[in-house]
Amino acid sequence: MIDPAISDIYKARMSEKEFEKLSTFIYRETGIKMPPVKITMLQSRLQKRLRHLKIRTFGEYIDYVFGENGADAEIIHMIDVVSTNKTDFFREPVHFEFLAENILPGINLKTSADRPLRIWSAGCSSGEEAYTIAITINEYIEEHKEDIDYRILGTDISTDILQKAVNAVYREDRVANIPMNIRRKYFLKSKDPKKKAVRIVPGLRQKVSWKRLNFMDPGYDVKESYDIIFCRNVLIYFDRQTQEDVINKLCLHLKPGGYFFLGHSESIMGMNVPVRTLKPTIYRRM
Ligand SMILES: C[S@@+](CC[C@H](N)C(=O)[O-])C[C@H]1O[C@@H](n2cnc3c(N)ncnc32)[C@H](O)[C@@H]1O
Repeated sequence: MIDPAISDIYKARMSEKEFEKLSTFIYRETGIKMPPVKITMLQSRLQKRLRHLKIRTFGEYIDYVFGENGADAEIIHMIDVVSTNKTDFFREPVHFEFLAENILPGINLKTSADRPLRIWSAGCSSGEEAYTIAITINEYIEEHKEDIDYRILGTDISTDILQKAVNAVYREDRVANIPMNIRRKYFLKSKDPKKKAVRIVPGLRQKVSWKRLNFMDPGYDVKESYDIIFCRNVLIYFDRQTQEDVINKLCLHLKPGGYFFLGHSESIMGMNVPVRTLKPTIYRRM
């Protein structure tokens, strides 16, 4: 039996004014646009936070977040629940084919001896993209008997989702479509068969480092310049001007001649950005 006070929280309704306040704040903080049709989605996602905080109304929640003692930690939780983290291993596989067939053969060993090949999975969600990049490079190294040293950085705004990337534990059904030989090499089965989970092997995990990074922050804490940046299926949540700004800022960290990937429904068409198109969604820094 649910405590009646708690069940009220379950039913908390968000007024249009409350939606406007929260969505304006979310847009300013994250770039994620929330048109009025998203009110039900925002209401239901934030109801979890109200329940957790034992707060009864969205009015109280707003006072809590924006009040004098501004709940900074809550802002992070709010961002965690509003970000959409859909991802997959080998999502949009042409990009990984392009990496193996067109980019890696051109990486000369001198580059690799001087310094590692650096790749940034920007908006990495729970890590599947970064680990797919690592698998692709490892497979290339094995097939071509080449010695390419590489490092991958995965960044995301959501702390919850980054923790999943760090843990590198995935449900078995999330890897069911990956060929068996790849699964055997790069995924360890849980010792407890009831768990139906797999974990990325340590050799791959140590190739990736993770960091919380908000594209809206005026200065990133990213020191290196990158040979390749994946920023896929992130920009769709932003308006056009924000998309252009985000790409321009990412390109400050992309080496001249470096490669840039967007998601399949994204494009740079009509934007003033310093990359040229090689193929749809695959670009090269000028
Ligand atoms: C749909 S996932 C895409 C994951 C992966 N790149 C892929 O294509 O499968 C989008 C990710 O972008 C992150 N994101 C949204 N707004 C962001 C921001 N302002 N700064 C950094 N990451 C953000 C979300 O938290 C989410 O994990």
